[in-house]
Amino acid sequence: MAQEKRLENKVALITGASRGIGKAIALCFAKEGAFVAINYAQSQNLAEEVCQTIRTNGGRCMDVQADLGDSRQVDRMIEKVLLENDKIDILVNNAGVLKLMPTLDTLGSDFDRMIDVNLKGILHCSRVVSDNMKGLDTGRIINVSSIAALGTSMNGCTGYAITKSAVNMLTRRLALELGPENITVNAIAPGFVATDMSLEGARATGTELSSIASRTMLNRIGQPVDIARVALFLASEDSSFMTGQVITVDGGRVDYLTRSV
Ligand SMILES: NC(=O)c1ccc[n+]([C@@H]2O[C@H](COP(=O)([O-])OP(=O)(O)OC[C@H]3O[C@@H](n4cnc5c(N)ncnc54)[C@H](OP(=O)(O)O)[C@@H]3O)[C@@H](O)[C@H]2O)c1
Repeated sequence: MAQEKRLENKVALITGASRGIGKAIALCFAKEGAFVAINYAQSQNLAEEVCQTIRTNGGRCMDVQADLGDSRQVDRMIEKVLLENDKIDILVNNAGVLKLMPTLDTLGSDFDRMIDVNLKGILHCSRVVSDNMKGLDTGRIINVSSIAALGTSMNGCTGYAITKSAVNMLTRRLALELGPENITVNAIAPGFVATDMSLEGARATGTELSSIASRTMLNRIGQPVDIARVALFLASEDSSFMTGQVITVDGGRVDYLTRSV
């Protein structure tokens, strides 16, 4: 007998799903039977490729452009997804940007951009999508935070860490307020996962991947699928009594603010 898929009949909107962690989540959810809406900001070709892969494997999806830093674009994106499906059961707030700067220079347009995308983007998306979820009397919101919020010592990431700390608090506050509607809100705090963002960050700070791996108990860097599997757990019935939590998925990092290697 064929095994039941864990997200059958569910509709998931995944922001920033053209590459990296978001792409892995989209592929994983589609494999488990969800219709997935794949958001991207600029990489239309990559988002179409993700869709093509999903359809080739018998899954259902659409790609949808929106810059998460622009609330009107977010509104249009959610309208398009709802036109196609009438509902959104699962929202994965994954899109994020990382701009490195010295702590005392954490001011100006680069910091504003991180606040707009990493924080306000999540808040706006959650507000609009949770309105729809309230009508369903169930829902899942999954925020992608970072171990930066827990105090990694990576140079230049104070501004980014501030936005991700705010995401953790937003996760708990939203969980409190949406709990009575049976909407769970949890976050994943990934460690170093091999994607464009992290590899560029490592290059910019002159950090060897082997040195990052050596700071984990498992002695390796993460892969996007490591995060996708935890997102699947949070999206599925298996996590139905869990909300307001930030789950660290970092291979067991040992260097929080200690600079120890
Ligand atoms: N990789 C890590 O080690 C790591 C660790 C901790 C946390 N995280 C978090 O994990 C999430 C995913 O990161 P990643 O490493 O997979 O990044 P990535 O490889 O750089 O991919 C970023 C994704 O977000 C999209 N995106 C960027 N800015 C956007 C915007 N303004 N509006 C809509 N979409 C936007 C990109 O779309 P386009 O392709 O169209 O640009 C792309 O799909 C982020 O929130 C990041 O902070 C990553």
